[in-house]
Amino acid sequence: MDTATLLGDSTTQEKKVTLTSEETTNPTVTIPSKPEDNGGTVVETISISKNQQKKKRRYEKLMAVKKRKKEQDKEEKRARREMNGRNLEQEKQTQKAREMSGEGHKKRQEKWQKRMENSVNQFKICIDCSFDASMTTKEIGSLSNQIRYCYAVNKSSDNPVHFSVSSLSGLNHDNLKKVCGFPDQWKSFTCSEKSLLEMNSNNKDKLIYLTSDSDNTLKDLDDDKIYVIGGIVDRNRLKGATKKIAEQFGFETAKLPIDENVQVCSTKVLTCNHVFEILLKYHEHGEDWKKALLDVLPIRKDVKQVSNKD
Ligand SMILES: C[S@@+](CC[C@H](N)C(=O)[O-])C[C@H]1O[C@@H](n2cnc3c(N)ncnc32)[C@H](O)[C@@H]1O
Repeated sequence: MDTATLLGDSTTQEKKVTLTSEETTNPTVTIPSKPEDNGGTVVETISISKNQQKKKRRYEKLMAVKKRKKEQDKEEKRARREMNGRNLEQEKQTQKAREMSGEGHKKRQEKWQKRMENSVNQFKICIDCSFDASMTTKEIGSLSNQIRYCYAVNKSSDNPVHFSVSSLSGLNHDNLKKVCGFPDQWKSFTCSEKSLLEMNSNNKDKLIYLTSDSDNTLKDLDDDKIYVIGGIVDRNRLKGATKKIAEQFGFETAKLPIDENVQVCSTKVLTCNHVFEILLKYHEHGEDWKKALLDVLPIRKDVKQVSNKD
């Protein structure tokens, strides 16, 4: 059967439509207007031009090639392992038995615990997601992706921190719930619908709200502090939003020492994940902000070093 697949906006809901050969020649398809209308009564009609059909066929062909290549790679990997004398079937059984007994999970947990204890980063990082109402659906989608990225970077770091997310609700929460293992299996991670203040009611004096608009510049990172990143994706539309919130609640604020260390030709307002990563890398680079900034900031920001005056 001749098929064509219609993909919707990947950041929102995926629409998949299968066309019969008859529909492909007469390019009008009927799809449910909402995911929950599947097989229901409300329908909407979408016309597909010849050009779109061509694009779709090309896309499908590409996907099929990719799938074949993936299977081939998997087969080659398996053959290589067997050639090296490994009994894959037995390994699979052992792994299964270990999982059933909970031994594997326990071991992974212990290993992670050790990594946390030995981490040079003993401070904490929190992303405050109380700005959703001022963001578009797309921006909230990007924020969810940035939180996922921060978690992935932290998990693979040799020096992870305790990571938390406050005021997590609505679409942002729904997006993250779709991620495998979120939140129960996420390591050293806490999230809550509670506000930053509610989550840290006994530690208000430990909070340092990061904002590029602060008059204070970070000199060092203190093991005892919780560094807060404003959960905002706004293409600089919501100017001063984090500073305003921080002042309203009386939180201490600080900005990253960008001017003192690097020359950035574009904006000094960074994304949440870049700020997260810079904090994570500061100790790893021997308490050197310049190295941490140069390591993390993208080339497109045209980052240059500022020469040391001392
Ligand atoms: C995309 S920025 C949000 C910009 C927003 N207009 C605001 O009011 O801050 C996301 C977050 O990253 C942090 N951030 C970005 N650039 C920073 C900098 N240069 N110094 C300290 N924190 C920064 C802040 O916590 C900020 O809320």
